[in-house]
Amino acid sequence: MLRIILCDSNTELTKLWHKSLPKILIEKRQLRIINDNFKNLTTRYITTNKIDGVDANRCSVVSPGNSFGFLGGGFDLALYENYGKKPFEDWVRSKLNHEYKPVGSLTIFDTHEYPNHKIDAVRYIQHIPTMITPSKPLASSTADNSNLIQLVFNTMWVALNNVPEDVNTIIIPGLCTGYAGVSIELSTKVTSFAITLFYMRTRISKDLLNKLIMIHMGNDYIPFYSKVIESELNTLGLKYSDLKALESCNEKIIFPAQLLRLL
Ligand code: ADP
Ligand code: NA
Ligand code: NA
Repeated sequence: MLRIILCDSNTELTKLWHKSLPKILIEKRQLRIINDNFKNLTTRYITTNKIDGVDANRCSVVSPGNSFGFLGGGFDLALYENYGKKPFEDWVRSKLNHEYKPVGSLTIFDTHEYPNHKIDAVRYIQHIPTMITPSKPLASSTADNSNLIQLVFNTMWVALNNVPEDVNTIIIPGLCTGYAGVSIELSTKVTSFAITLFYMRTRISKDLLNKLIMIHMGNDYIPFYSKVIESELNTLGLKYSDLKALESCNEKIIFPAQLLRLL
């Protein structure tokens, strides 16, 4: 079972994570929330030789980067400082073929391929651009933030569903909460939905999973609803209208108890 470590130096953000994510995931040690900087996280690993029992090289870390692979700011800068500064950045960019990588696309770096790799908990970096460049924050003043919701959800979903096979822990910072300028409230709401859904995904049908995603993102489409989903909801003791509580436009996302019980 994959374990998630949400780690961020922003104290307010980690408080929101604590409030928003299901306690059961923390109790079952599937989720850990850490308010610290990345360096301390990996240093602690080296001194104790584990982060809650994670073996060496079994972690992957998500880097919410930019489309050109420069590591000059935000969480990327922590990777830059930790793994070898300019030569490391050059190596990262060479792994991207010095090419433009669209927002939301994933490139996985195996740190063992870096000539001077540092032995610590992290084996892989999952690089996913959340911005083309950090030229300006994404957050707009318009009331419609569906593009930001999609960005956070897609980044999280791509990260969680593409973890290298030999990894048992994924380290994820706040997504889009730095240079991208998305509010910690919005990012937390969507992050929390995605993580909760990720841990229940094997206990519901793919069709229902997809339905929950389109509802959350404000893209519900009735023709993409089937008798099969309906009878699954029936079996769970749920009505279609109960799923409205999962829409990201709600101030608070409420998973029906019938779904939370599946965690
Ligand atoms: P984005 O472009 O997606 O906003 P950033 O890298 O700018 O990505 O920020 C992502 C998150 O990383 C932010 O919530 C920020 O607080 C956090 N962060 C930045 N530096 C560090 C660090 N050294 N350790 C832990 N978290 C960090
Ligand atoms: Na970014
Ligand atoms: Na970044």
